[in-house]
Amino acid sequence: MKYAKLSQTEDLMPTLGLGTWQAPPEVIETTVYKALDLGYRHIDTAFNYNNEEAIGNAIKRWIQDGKGTRKDLFITTKLPHVGNRAADVKRFLHLQLGRLQMDYVDLYLIHVPFGFRCDPDTLTPLVKENGDYDIDMETDHISTWKAMEECQREGLIRNLGLSNFNETQILKIINSATIKPQVLQVELHAYFQQLDLRKFCMEHEIVVTAYAPLGSPGAKEHFVNKYNYSPDVFPDLLGHPEVKDIARNHGKTPAQVLLRFLVQQKVIVIPKSTSDHRLKENSDIYDFELLPAEINRLKKLDKGEDSRVFNFLFWKGVEKHPEYPFKLQTVDTSKD
Ligand SMILES: NC(=O)c1ccc[n+]([C@@H]2O[C@H](COP(=O)([O-])OP(=O)(O)OC[C@H]3O[C@@H](n4cnc5c(N)ncnc54)[C@H](OP(=O)(O)O)[C@@H]3O)[C@@H](O)[C@H]2O)c1
Repeated sequence: MKYAKLSQTEDLMPTLGLGTWQAPPEVIETTVYKALDLGYRHIDTAFNYNNEEAIGNAIKRWIQDGKGTRKDLFITTKLPHVGNRAADVKRFLHLQLGRLQMDYVDLYLIHVPFGFRCDPDTLTPLVKENGDYDIDMETDHISTWKAMEECQREGLIRNLGLSNFNETQILKIINSATIKPQVLQVELHAYFQQLDLRKFCMEHEIVVTAYAPLGSPGAKEHFVNKYNYSPDVFPDLLGHPEVKDIARNHGKTPAQVLLRFLVQQKVIVIPKSTSDHRLKENSDIYDFELLPAEINRLKKLDKGEDSRVFNFLFWKGVEKHPEYPFKLQTVDTSKD
């Protein structure tokens, strides 16, 4: 395993992690145990993925079986949109630590910069009669961050970070923080390379994690069926001729090339898989190197903002939140 050093704590973050979105608890428990056996040491989850407890079970069992210690692992989870306020940080973190069955997490991210009002019984967003999500107009990043800093001082979190924030929002936190963001997790793949944001992060010693590093093939079915998106907006990166050609040159798969392309540029990757052979395939990315010419070919695939898959517009009305982070495209993503 290779690692990136986090600037303030000097903690080592494995450059490959296991993504777990859309992985149901009954499946992910077995997957995480197998992933740890294969050498994965970094697991990415979130309150919203509804699988923290199963992941905790797997980790606990793996440690009890004498295969490693908690210190060998790097566990990331995220403060949900319904808990995105100072008063709720500790409450959610304690709940999540309980589910994960651990005393601390290695990285705690604010999942999204906007917040929704929370149904206290289900801990899910309140939705208005017109179908719009009930936006929390009081979202205040600075006070939320201060509450996260307090949790870090208490030893409940090793490192703090952000997800889906834009440069302006990150800068505002940097300027008022005692403990600066160590990691930014954003959508990042060959079609959407986020060059400006990566440059900004490098200048501020923030490590970038790529979510959807394979272009999130699983999101397509989810968004098309659940949220009525048009299938045309989803990238087929794994089938791209350039990617396939480079893969052939190295005797590797398109997925391995897409992941290698990012880690070779110092971006952390967290591909999700619950398939035994793809889990193994995605971890075999350290025994080959892409040539500068190949990196340049892949760099040319960047389509910028047009290729963003995760704009969160599936949460109806989210764009009306004052902290909605993205510039809206004119393209209509819904089916007629
Ligand atoms: N912070 C955020 O807002 C946010 C948003 C989205 C995702 N994330 C995190 O980032 C992780 C990764 O993103 P993602 O899950 O959306 O997308 P991804 O990792 O790019 O793609 C995962 C999909 O690709 C398939 N897959 C995995 N390895 C493959 C391979 N070698 N060849 C072909 N197909 C393969 C998986 O199916 P199988 O399981 O069947 O292999 C799954 O459907 C998430 O799981 C989550 O932890 C964070």
